[in-house]
Amino acid sequence: MIIAKTPEDVKKVVSGWKKEGLKIGLCPTMGYLHEGHASLVDASVANCDRTIVSVFVNPIQFGPTEDLATYPRDFERDCALLEEHGADLVFHPDPEDMYFDDFCTYVDMDVLPDTLCGASRAGHFRGVCTVVNKLFNISKADMAFFGKKDAQQLAVIKRMVRDLNIDIEIYGCPIVREDDGLAKSSRNTYLSDEERKAALILSRTVLEGQHICAAGERNSAALKEAMMKKLAEEPMADVEYVEVVDGLNMQPVEEFKEGDLVAMAVRIGKTRLIDNFTVGDPDIVI
Ligand code: PAF
Repeated sequence: MIIAKTPEDVKKVVSGWKKEGLKIGLCPTMGYLHEGHASLVDASVANCDRTIVSVFVNPIQFGPTEDLATYPRDFERDCALLEEHGADLVFHPDPEDMYFDDFCTYVDMDVLPDTLCGASRAGHFRGVCTVVNKLFNISKADMAFFGKKDAQQLAVIKRMVRDLNIDIEIYGCPIVREDDGLAKSSRNTYLSDEERKAALILSRTVLEGQHICAAGERNSAALKEAMMKKLAEEPMADVEYVEVVDGLNMQPVEEFKEGDLVAMAVRIGKTRLIDNFTVGDPDIVI
């Protein structure tokens, strides 16, 4: 497995692969990898000849009060997991390898980032779109793999690719969960034992929502009310939002249909957790 630090190092390897006509997969990550990330790598290895994984905590997608400084990092452990799953190249730049001192070009988007997580994380999706665009350019990947846990991010990236005619196929991988249902996240490591137990309210609420949809409910207000009631069972849960949005534009809908997204963000202590399901999606919590 090659470890590359600069965009130029990656480009050198990639140009050799391109000459051989190999299909390249990219898995963008911020490191501190878990089985959710591993599933992206597995999907890339299954669909592509070569797999690049970027491990980069992207400073421009964090707000001033967010956890950039404390975001968990363990590059050695990440490399061991990536090697085991068959990644070919790990791109691990420092911020200064990615952003010149006078960097001033960003990729911005209207509409999709205005709701859900974007509503409380000003500039977050601008930072994501910018870095993902750079990663696409550096890797020259044919396919890129993202998790459905960050459903709004996946929708934003698909829209960016469509709107900017980027020549890459985007593949969404199912949410990977702990045995008890908690969606895997690098941020789960922030939870104390008590908070970890309380955090189960998210997946339980997803399951409740899935049951309600399976029973035929299609009214967003009714679904949200039932999910809020479920979340209220956990005193440590501080709900930021529960929302039902159109699966493509991420805008709230009064009546929902298959393919629409039911998403939530909840703080347990200081940790902000997200979870979601797509109506009609066969991936269910249990
Ligand atoms: O999902 C993430 O880990 C990040 O937002 C991404 C896509 C790697 C961009 O920094």
